[in-house]
Amino acid sequence: MDDLRDKYLGRIAEAGDEAALEAVRLAAVGKKGEVALKMRELGKMTPDERQQVGPALNALKDEINSAIAARKAGLEDAALDARLREEWLDVTLPTRARRQGTIHPVSQVTEEVTAIFADLGFAVAEGPQIETDWYNFDALNIPGHHPARAEMDTFYMARQDGDNRPPHVLRTHTSPVQIRSMEATGAPTRIICPGRVYRADYDQTHTPMFHQVEGLAIDRDISMANLKWVLEEFCRAFFEIDGIELRFRASHFPFTEPSAEVDIRCSWEGGTLKLGEGDDWLEILGSGMVHPKVLQAGGVDPEVWQGFAFGMGIDRIAMLKYGIPDLRAFFDSDLRWLRHYGFAALQAPARHAG
Ligand code: DAH
Repeated sequence: MDDLRDKYLGRIAEAGDEAALEAVRLAAVGKKGEVALKMRELGKMTPDERQQVGPALNALKDEINSAIAARKAGLEDAALDARLREEWLDVTLPTRARRQGTIHPVSQVTEEVTAIFADLGFAVAEGPQIETDWYNFDALNIPGHHPARAEMDTFYMARQDGDNRPPHVLRTHTSPVQIRSMEATGAPTRIICPGRVYRADYDQTHTPMFHQVEGLAIDRDISMANLKWVLEEFCRAFFEIDGIELRFRASHFPFTEPSAEVDIRCSWEGGTLKLGEGDDWLEILGSGMVHPKVLQAGGVDPEVWQGFAFGMGIDRIAMLKYGIPDLRAFFDSDLRWLRHYGFAALQAPARHAG
């Protein structure tokens, strides 16, 4: 009996994992284990012997079982300790140096433009980037056969087979928001709409997605003179140059009559662009008096109301103001570029501060 005890307590102590421990348990106190076999021998003993050996075997069985339980608990503790050592983490280590994020020039300029036009009484309107071709073209007096549709390198949304309705488009300009905002609020109105627009085009000055800001002012007696004053005020404030000079050049857009493209006086002397001086002109926007058909499409009576509209490239004026040479870099997400041209968070747009 003592040999049995020594043997199994020794093997329990040596068992290195739960599987080994289970093997020891089966060999010792399992149904066919050594202790069980000994118990079977009780039948051959005399009542006196049985009275002695029986309780002793039971005691041995209990002892082995509790030694196994204790060893099992010990193994579990050791495993937990090992895992804790392994997964240890020093939460008192200093954090990694934080890099301040920057505001993208497009966001910054959008804020600046919005602030300046807010001073001039313009509210911000928005429209969807996926448009019906009615809003993007027809309502703006660009009928189906009009060459402007082809010129705009429009992205058309895929249609399901058998769907013969006109396809949706990625809006090619912010002008459809003119129609949507007239529908929503009628006249009089004074809104700008900054936002994303899309055209299939890619080079140093074109990216398939870019940003425009649309302007629309409608009232009973709004004229081209109001348009000129508003745009001059805007450019003076935006470029922060008092002597800014604009040139209104006769042009053509289907949605305005008359139409004008607006150029800004500049110089390229020494290879660097300077605004407000020199003998060159740089085109910055398209504008005009809203075409009566466009007013009509927006549900506004052209016999009573008239107004001006303009459309300007946000990325383009950002490039001019901050001396950024390549439009494509705006959308490359290159951290070095963003750190160089980005703006500090919470930096107020130029006009806000005043
Ligand atoms: N939608 C024109 C474009 O993307 C820009 C434009 C020109 C907008 C004249 C206007 C406007 O509102 O009056 O090229």
